[in-house]
Amino acid sequence: MRIGYFAAACLSVAISGIAVGDAAAQDVVKIGVVIPMTGGLASVGREVADGAKLYIQQYGETVAGRKVELIIRDDAGVPDAGKRLAQELIVKDKVSFLGAGTTPTAMAMAPLATEAKVATAVMVSGTSVVTERSPYYVRTSFTLGQQSGIIADWATQNGSKKAVAIVSDWAPGAEASKVFDQHFTKGGGQVLDTLQVPLANPDFAPFLQRARDLQPDTLFVFVPAGQAGTLARQFAERGLDKSGIKLIGPGDIVDDDDLPGTGDTLLGVVTAGVYSAVHPSLINKFYVAAYAKATGHRANFISVGGYDGMRLIYSALEKTGGNTNADAVVAAMKGMKWESPRGPISIDPRTRDIVQNVYIRKIERLDGEPWAVEIETFEAVKDPLKEAAAQ
Ligand code: PHB
Repeated sequence: MRIGYFAAACLSVAISGIAVGDAAAQDVVKIGVVIPMTGGLASVGREVADGAKLYIQQYGETVAGRKVELIIRDDAGVPDAGKRLAQELIVKDKVSFLGAGTTPTAMAMAPLATEAKVATAVMVSGTSVVTERSPYYVRTSFTLGQQSGIIADWATQNGSKKAVAIVSDWAPGAEASKVFDQHFTKGGGQVLDTLQVPLANPDFAPFLQRARDLQPDTLFVFVPAGQAGTLARQFAERGLDKSGIKLIGPGDIVDDDDLPGTGDTLLGVVTAGVYSAVHPSLINKFYVAAYAKATGHRANFISVGGYDGMRLIYSALEKTGGNTNADAVVAAMKGMKWESPRGPISIDPRTRDIVQNVYIRKIERLDGEPWAVEIETFEAVKDPLKEAAAQ
């Protein structure tokens, strides 16, 4: 009798052992991120991946009892490739979450996320409309509109009257110039011209020359992360840093990753941005130190999109008890708030877009290197294009 009981107990342990083994295999939550790891925007891919990996390193590979596996796929900045990779991640890898990167691929992937019902953290794209392309898209990056309206207002309030805009020729550039135009004109200024620079292998020199010939008092520029170094060099080569023309723009033009290599060229430049590596908070000090230790680079605004993207997914899984059903997950994400290295952020429950502080920053030399020092804060800024559309 006792032996029978013992045997039964052993059998039940063995059965539950098998069950546990199966559950462990199923329990892995795969997160597939599609970003440019090669090509002209490779630095963007590297930074967002490094931010996401740092989050996992700091908070562990398990959340809500489930193991997390991050899968990174390189779209080389080509949306067709990105779409194919997202399809493979959904069908072959059976990911529970996607991470969307730059705008063209984020747009191309959206119908797949919708059809397969996969919750997606938008970790890079800065184009307003992207979050409207799928009900499962939730943004942790930024929008160009958030920053461009605020810097336009700052400029007209600080004496700018005639501006020329130079923007990178793709969706985020079009939005940056559109919102800049609206605000600059409303503030009594005049936009003399808007010049569009090709995204790939940009040569800013002819555009800078044309802008200078128009004799503006202000130059509004948007180039994506990774191109600030080239912009600064060509700006100085034309003597524009000594011309008296004010250079302004969204935070992208003083990307923290590029700043150390720009010498004195950008000193005094004022931008409106969502993140600075010298944002004065304890959380940010730890973030910048840990990021530098892990990567050898200065943390930038792209990296926090990846870091906060993982935070969004982890917190949602905690709230759903490990359930990855996209409707449950996105419901959990709506209205979420936390303290990011950039400052307080939240997810607008209506739009699934990020609400965050936008800071006016001036480039200053501290300890021998240029940094974007925050001088004014606009709290809890929403994407202005969505707000205007809702009026
Ligand atoms: C985008 O993909 O929308 C994007 C990427 C890098 C930037 C800004 C926008 O710096």
